[in-house]
This record gives sequence, structure tokens and C-alpha cells, in this order.
Amino acid sequence: MSLLKVYDEEGNLLESIKDYEEIRKKLASLKVIFERWNTDKELPWSATQEEVLQVYKEDVERIVREYGFKSIDVVSLTPDHPKREELRNMFLSEHTHSDFEVRFFVDGCGTFYLHIGDKVYVVFCEKGDFISVPANTKHWFDMGTKPFFKAIRFFSIPEGWVANFTGSDISKRLPSHDEIVES
Ligand SMILES: [Fe+2]
Repeated sequence: MSLLKVYDEEGNLLESIKDYEEIRKKLASLKVIFERWNTDKELPWSATQEEVLQVYKEDVERIVREYGFKSIDVVSLTPDHPKREELRNMFLSEHTHSDFEVRFFVDGCGTFYLHIGDKVYVVFCEKGDFISVPANTKHWFDMGTKPFFKAIRFFSIPEGWVANFTGSDISKRLPSHDEIVES
């Protein structure tokens, strides 16, 4: 189940929300779009990018129309990936982008940490979850020590994923993706 946990900047838990509609509303109040897409159609892990985009064609086209995204791709990561640690660390430090960060979880899971005001909103995303982090929002992403996910990424700038790191070590004070999964 998707989950939203709200922490203060010291890593103290303030609130935990499991109800999808409540998560959606809370995130919407922060200008973060959170949706749950229909995942009824069977899609094997081995599905190609084209097959994934075909299955989610309606939602993908709706989102592209709505936000004018210029490019889309599908990324996946498994626990046996030789560079999993390196990749995990790359997204683990707090950063911002001049573009939205928009993901749809086709399979598996991952955790987004959104540092807005004096709080950190921890969004555990899994299969069927769509999230759009607004431009210039401080955030980081943890895929865990045993990453397992497949996601559609949407980009509105041709450069794709460009991060501006804030230099903050706040991510160390918050529970990791592995800890969120175990909790
Ligand atoms: Fe990011």
C-alpha cells in the first residue's frame, strides 16, 4: 500500500497516512500530484519500453497533453544490478530540479522524500502510483539497498534529469526506504 509519512526536519514522525484519498489531498495541498492508475492489464517484467507505454497509453497521453512533456522513457532496476549502490547514492542527497520530477511506477516500489517548509513528506510509491514533484522542490529518492522497480519518467526539458544538490545532509536523519518498507 502506498503510504505518506510526515516528519519534522530532525526526523521525528508527525503523521502517517495510509488512505489513498487522504494522501492525494494532502499532497495536492503541496502542489504535488499523486494519482493511482489502473494496473489491471498483465505486464511481464520483461516487457519492452514500447509494450509498457502501449499498456498505459491513455494515461500517458493524458499526462503528456496536460503538461506538455517533451520526452518519456522507461527505467528499471533489479537487486542484482552491479551499479545499484552508485545509482542509489546518486538520488539519495537532497536536490532540486528546474523541471518537474514525474514518475509512474509500473512495478516494484521506491520512496520520495519531499522537503517542503519545515517538514519532510515521505511518499512510499508502488505499482500503480503516479507522482509529480514540482520544479524547485527540495527532495531526494531512495530505491533501497535491493532496488526493484520499473517506472515511466516524463521530462519537459530535453536535458532530462539534471540535479542541483543543496549540500544538506537532512536525508541522513530520515528513515531509509528499507526502513519504511520494514515499518
Ligand atoms: Fe530528483
